[in-house]
Amino acid sequence: MSLKSHEINLDITPITETFGAIVSGVKLSNQMSQDELNQIKSYWNRYQILLFRDQDLSKEDIIGFSRELGDLEIHIRNEWLNDEHPEILQISNINVDGKPIGALSDGEVGWHYDQIYLKRPALGSLLCSVKIPPEGGCTYFADMTTAYERLPLDLKTVIDGRLGIQSYENFNNLYSTKTDENQTTLTQKITQPLVRTHPVTGRRALYLCPGMTVGISGIPDDESGAILQQLFDWCLQDDFVYKHNWRLGDALLWDNACTMHRREPFDSVHERLMFRTTILPQAERAVPF
Ligand SMILES: [Fe+2]
Repeated sequence: MSLKSHEINLDITPITETFGAIVSGVKLSNQMSQDELNQIKSYWNRYQILLFRDQDLSKEDIIGFSRELGDLEIHIRNEWLNDEHPEILQISNINVDGKPIGALSDGEVGWHYDQIYLKRPALGSLLCSVKIPPEGGCTYFADMTTAYERLPLDLKTVIDGRLGIQSYENFNNLYSTKTDENQTTLTQKITQPLVRTHPVTGRRALYLCPGMTVGISGIPDDESGAILQQLFDWCLQDDFVYKHNWRLGDALLWDNACTMHRREPFDSVHERLMFRTTILPQAERAVPF
């Protein structure tokens, strides 16, 4: 099914029954019209993940477009920022002078919400493929809104009003990406609601992930571990998951309030380079959740 916007010339093609859509008829840039931006924002809220194919984006385009969606974060992992444009976090297995130029190398990266470990977590991210391997390295997304809406009532009741304990250290231990002293100080364990209300749509989504959610406040570890495992198993059913097979020129924008993601490994003989911007709620319009 392909729907035509009545206002401007953007086509939208849903990817799954519940989330994800391909947007065509637009070139992302730092000089987009307000109508185009408004339409994209509306689609972003509705579909949670937007895929733009065949983009040929300069770093300025990536930053300019992203900045229209919110404030841009300079990621705390400063060792992986682009040299000229620190708004861009590089995800890569490429080494220069024996040092990795980006995060996460070529291995498996398990399910996580970006920055669930920060008090002001990202609104979303834009990930652009610059260099990709011939196979592998796919990114999977889970629709945590639908996962919550279809969650059995007894589990909804168990987590209602509860806070999840979030640990970036747990994620780094799993994937051997140790933080330095300053980064560790900035990423101490915090709690977040296990059910997050979307700041724009008002829809509720499960806000937890296997990589970083290590407990439930007020519930003993063994009991909370069992509850979390039930929730993770529920979210990761095929019905809620989309697998994205990257093409060169793909730009993928996701909503970080209601989707989590993971990456599968790829063969280390191939180079992979992705540029990511991290979009924060604009300070003046930030809505607590
Ligand atoms: Fe991520």
